[in-house]
Amino acid sequence: MCGIVAYLGEKCAQPILIEGLKRLEYRGYDSAGVALLDGGAIRIKKTSGRINALEAILDEPRTEDTLGLGHTRWATHGEPNEINAHPHPDYTGKIAIVHNGIIENYGTLKTWLQNEGVKFLSDTDTEVIANLIGYFYATGDGSEESKQCDGQTKFEWAVQRALRELHGTYGLGILCADFPNILIGAKKGSPLILGVGDGEYILASDAAAIVEHTTQAVYLADNEMVTISPGGFHTKTIDNVPITKELSEIEFSLEQIELGGFEHHMLKEIFEQPKALTTCMGGRIDAQNGRIKLGGIDSYLRELTRTKHLILTACGTAWHAGLVGEFLFEQLARIPTETEYASEFRYRNPIIEDGTVVVCISQSGETADTLAAVEQAKERGATVLGIVNVVGSSIARATDAGVYLHAGPEIGVASTKAFTAQVAVLTMLAVELGRRRHISSNEATGHIKELAQIPDKISRILEQSDHIKQIAAANAGQENWLFLGRGFNYPVALEGALKLKEISYIHAEGLPAAEMKHGPIALIVDAMPTVFIATAGPQYNKIMGNIAEVRARGGKTIIIATEGDENIKQHADHLITVPDAPEILQPMLTVLPLQLLAYHAAMLRGHDVDKPRNLAKSVTVE
Ligand code: AGP
Ligand code: GLU
Repeated sequence: MCGIVAYLGEKCAQPILIEGLKRLEYRGYDSAGVALLDGGAIRIKKTSGRINALEAILDEPRTEDTLGLGHTRWATHGEPNEINAHPHPDYTGKIAIVHNGIIENYGTLKTWLQNEGVKFLSDTDTEVIANLIGYFYATGDGSEESKQCDGQTKFEWAVQRALRELHGTYGLGILCADFPNILIGAKKGSPLILGVGDGEYILASDAAAIVEHTTQAVYLADNEMVTISPGGFHTKTIDNVPITKELSEIEFSLEQIELGGFEHHMLKEIFEQPKALTTCMGGRIDAQNGRIKLGGIDSYLRELTRTKHLILTACGTAWHAGLVGEFLFEQLARIPTETEYASEFRYRNPIIEDGTVVVCISQSGETADTLAAVEQAKERGATVLGIVNVVGSSIARATDAGVYLHAGPEIGVASTKAFTAQVAVLTMLAVELGRRRHISSNEATGHIKELAQIPDKISRILEQSDHIKQIAAANAGQENWLFLGRGFNYPVALEGALKLKEISYIHAEGLPAAEMKHGPIALIVDAMPTVFIATAGPQYNKIMGNIAEVRARGGKTIIIATEGDENIKQHADHLITVPDAPEILQPMLTVLPLQLLAYHAAMLRGHDVDKPRNLAKSVTVE
């Protein structure tokens, strides 16, 4: 997690770093800091808390400071206090670094350095990297190579020498006081992008900190480093092999990552869903002729059609989308499908036989567990496809092929439009595979026509935001909620509970509705809210029974029902309606009221919905 931004150019670095950190703050926000090179010395300012706390302790920006590092942290090692905040200096005071990732062998390296007389100040794993670079820069390693290099080459050599000792993940920005015109970046397992502007460079974890300055970028790959100076940059592997990197165009604009009149990114992203889904499906579905075209995986369609086993793997909300996908692939295409938590998949010796296809789903494309699952699946010989939002992200590049969501940047920590877009992509894929394997062309055409109507139907649900706010107000004081759904709406119940938990800090459980009577029904007490997804479909009558069971025990019901369902009103303490749609497409509608319910409940409880406590947007650590 965490956001890194570094600047080298002709402008005053400090405000650029602060602006960049604010754009990256969603990645981590427990402490922050900057380092500037100041006439042969490195000046570091850092603090616990958010970027505005950092701003409060900064000196006036100095125009001559045109090189610097910035960091917004999500602590893994050491509490989020000032001393553990980044940038970290080394013990000689010559080196300063910012780091995103985890160094797994930091304990061993720390002991070794301590035995060499190196003093440590913080509890972080990161300080080991700073001290290791500083140590090799100051003393070499006794080899001929280290004796021969000097000046800038020595700085680069020391960085490479240190990085080769590290096990784990890093995205790094590195300064050396002896070189007031040099910035080094290096990457393994954590994202790092170099924005290349006109006479200026911005090195950052995420394009959001770059687009204001340039749309030209170089995406570093694992085990690569870049040395940047006012005259240009060069890239190498950490084993000192030069490599040529192509410039790519960053595909999103500043406008897309700004609030545009909304109070929060989450609310903006909820309201963007009609547009996000229209873009996601645009050019991919041809409702007139009943066709679906997913360009990115065209050449894998034959293999997918013949596959005997599909594994969908993801984390959190993306996992919930995967579960909807499992139901879709099994129902429409009759392909045996499993949805695995990426974090479990990689450690449980998964069965991957000839012809198994693994599909990884991730908004950020940087989730460490999902990336590790991609690698595990590839090692075992599976074809690995990605369903990813962020173009050029690690998962997008590590998979054999994939389909981008094209949902636009998602900044709010709580995932909303990425979920509906993930489900839309999975639905398109399942309908296409279904048409090739199991269902008739007519049925497929029917689904495609219905899919095309989803964005308009979502707009109708969004009109109820104020009504949903009232329901949230009536129930936001309750500390325990249940979310129940059946069939395709069971994953939506899980997603509704996750949304409420992560931003309103209310304890919530999502369950298949019938499971309630096998235990959780004991939780029902007077006035406790249970959210039912009870839309028209094959299980409607069954879920009506579950509603009665809750009411009989004094629980309150918040019911998501199909427009025009008069019968259900009498069973609902609160009713929210969604337009009618076939059961297989309902998740893209029924999740909307749950996103809004969580948003309003969190607001009413006074929380920062875009930056919920203990969380960060991209979980780039395992
Ligand atoms: C969703 O609201 C969460 N913040 C989280 O569960 C998220 O979906 C998960 O961390 C996976 O992220 P990804 O889609 O970027 O891989
Ligand atoms: N492991 C480092 C720390 O705890 C970096 C964490 C991060 O990626 O934010 O400070």
